[in-house]
Amino acid sequence: MKLTLCGHEMKNPVIAASGTFGYGREYEDYYDPAVLGGISSKGLTLQPQKGNPGQRLHETPMGLMNSIGLQNPGVEWFIEHELADMLTIDTLTLVNLGGHSMEDYITGAQLLDKTEAPVIELNISCPNVDAGGMAFGIRCHSASAVVREVRQATKKTLLVKLSPNAENIVDMALACEEAGADAVSLVNTFQAMAIDVHAKKPVFHRVTAGLSGPAILPIALRMVHDVAKAVSIPVVGLGGIASGEDALAFIMAGATAVQVGTAAFTHPLRMPQIIDEMDAYCQQYGIRDWQEIRGIV
Ligand SMILES: Cc1cc2nc3c(=O)[nH]c(=O)nc-3n(C[C@H](O)[C@H](O)[C@H](O)COP(=O)(O)O)c2cc1C
Repeated sequence: MKLTLCGHEMKNPVIAASGTFGYGREYEDYYDPAVLGGISSKGLTLQPQKGNPGQRLHETPMGLMNSIGLQNPGVEWFIEHELADMLTIDTLTLVNLGGHSMEDYITGAQLLDKTEAPVIELNISCPNVDAGGMAFGIRCHSASAVVREVRQATKKTLLVKLSPNAENIVDMALACEEAGADAVSLVNTFQAMAIDVHAKKPVFHRVTAGLSGPAILPIALRMVHDVAKAVSIPVVGLGGIASGEDALAFIMAGATAVQVGTAAFTHPLRMPQIIDEMDAYCQQYGIRDWQEIRGIV
């Protein structure tokens, strides 16, 4: 089940997706988080954020909409109070960094560069904030500019998390690669909307919210496939993965590793189960190296 992602050893390809697994300890009552291949922290911004008012979660058929609004305690607080503990978990730590401006991203990256965090996952794809967030991840020139600046600010492994709402996801991935990304992860949530017809108003205060879960899997898979064929850097695939077979499909589409988010809300043990199902598949088909199936489709 082992693999290497940008030089970092992982026990298995399954990473807990940002915003769905806290800072790694939240699921400890259910299982040892060290069984995971990696954990991506909740998205952090330079300043602490209270998040969005109103309803924040809404279930849809086979999906989940969220409008959290990047609620977080800020990068500095995270570095002082959470990071050291997160790094004691025997798994790959990814620090998910969001921002509202170019300066936010650069300063956040500079602060993280001085820590022991091995990987920065640069979130240019959050659909639930007013300034910055996804705005950087829609057009190639703004994504390229922020990745280039952050690349100058840190020597850490730089994984850039892409938005499925980008004008053209393949061009976006190529632009990030060219600007210095070591890898890309995709997808973040799809911009979506729900209306409460009884209240005669949108469910969410900000009207739109991000859609995740099994409903998005086939589109996310297509995007991962197209991007993996185009770039020369590793691709981390996510979007609706809820079983070992789902995760294997992303690897066959070209992903080096996968992330799981919403599925962990449906059952807290889903991620270890996905790892076991992948292991059973490898044993059934005699697969000894992920290379044998990665990108075969
Ligand atoms: C409640 C919630 C909070 C999220 N917060 C973040 C975040 O802070 N940073 C980020 O990059 N992605 C965030 N995401 C997006 C997920 O990491 C993931 O990209 C998306 O949900 C698709 O994967 P899934 O279908 O497996 O959940 C969040 C998703 C959910 C459901």
